[in-house]
Amino acid sequence: DASDIEKGTYPHYMLKEIDEQPLVMRKIVQNYQDGEGELEIDSDIVKAMKDADRIYVIAAGTSYHAGLVGKQFIEKLAKIPVEVHISSEFGYNMPLLSEKPLFIFISQSGETADSRQVLVQVKEMGYKALTITNVPGSTLSREADYTLLLHAGPEIAVASTKAYTAQLAVLAILAEVTARGIGHEVDFDLVQELGIVATAMEALCDDKEEFESIAREYLTVTRNAFFIGRGIDFYVGLEGALKLKEISYIQAEGFAGGELKHGTIALIEEGTPVIALATQDFVNLSIRGNVKEVAARGANPCIISMSGLETDEDRFVIPEVHSLLTPLISVIPLQLISYYAALHRDCDVDKPRNLAKSVTVE
Ligand code: AGP
Repeated sequence: DASDIEKGTYPHYMLKEIDEQPLVMRKIVQNYQDGEGELEIDSDIVKAMKDADRIYVIAAGTSYHAGLVGKQFIEKLAKIPVEVHISSEFGYNMPLLSEKPLFIFISQSGETADSRQVLVQVKEMGYKALTITNVPGSTLSREADYTLLLHAGPEIAVASTKAYTAQLAVLAILAEVTARGIGHEVDFDLVQELGIVATAMEALCDDKEEFESIAREYLTVTRNAFFIGRGIDFYVGLEGALKLKEISYIQAEGFAGGELKHGTIALIEEGTPVIALATQDFVNLSIRGNVKEVAARGANPCIISMSGLETDEDRFVIPEVHSLLTPLISVIPLQLISYYAALHRDCDVDKPRNLAKSVTVE
């Protein structure tokens, strides 16, 4: 309950929760380590993953965006095919299911009605379900066969921040442990890489003035804003856009860089803010090409790149982390930019209009 949790010196829960992310990373690693310091997941869950010929991830909002990144983790490391679905649509557009599906529900609250409806439906069909949630004993946790906890601590602000990065960390651990269980080689040390992520998160949280000034420069007067990226940067852009729209009421959308020319670029006007993420080496040139295209049409581009891939034109450079784990840190500038944009526009950051923290109606 919000009244039981202190904001301390923070003006808003959202800012406090953004700042908690490095600590949450470390807690997650601790909670998923065995006595020898190796990452470990309940053997029944690993078995359910190994037995599945296809994984169906079901979620809403920010948790859906975490699922899109989680698909990359599971497919790249554990090499099991994954489909990611919006829970409210799944019932009407049920895909043809594989022979041995495993369902993964991602839900911070564990109470989202749209997701629960799918859980009830697939349980009736006799399938196994795993819930990844922040709330032990929540409905989705109780009704699924297995649960993985986020260990993020209560999230009070309507805009989800630390739960998203916690979801990504737990999905990465699930993918890595499953990969090892199957016998696929994982050529990096995830414990160490998540430690590097936590340190990078700290550096970003210490740079708040910079994000406040980016928000002031790009988002004070605009009525819309676009986020572009390629590969996993595209999925982080979707999350950045959701964050910005839900708390600042600026109409924001995330687009795949390559898709701009197929229509979206028509929306670019003089001064339109375009926040571009460039954290992936293999698409670095192409996303920068997209930035040139929108800039030539008057856009005001703000490139956020990763150390090692930066150029002089970039507005902010995030510290380098493992290429698969960049969403865990590239989202933090977007969370903070959204926070300050909402603040500058006098919006109610923690309780945006028309929204509830957990959506328990269909
Ligand atoms: C995120 O900032 C939103 N408030 C919202 O999209 C949320 O992620 C969604 O309603 C799903 O909630 P859940 O994770 O508790 O199921």
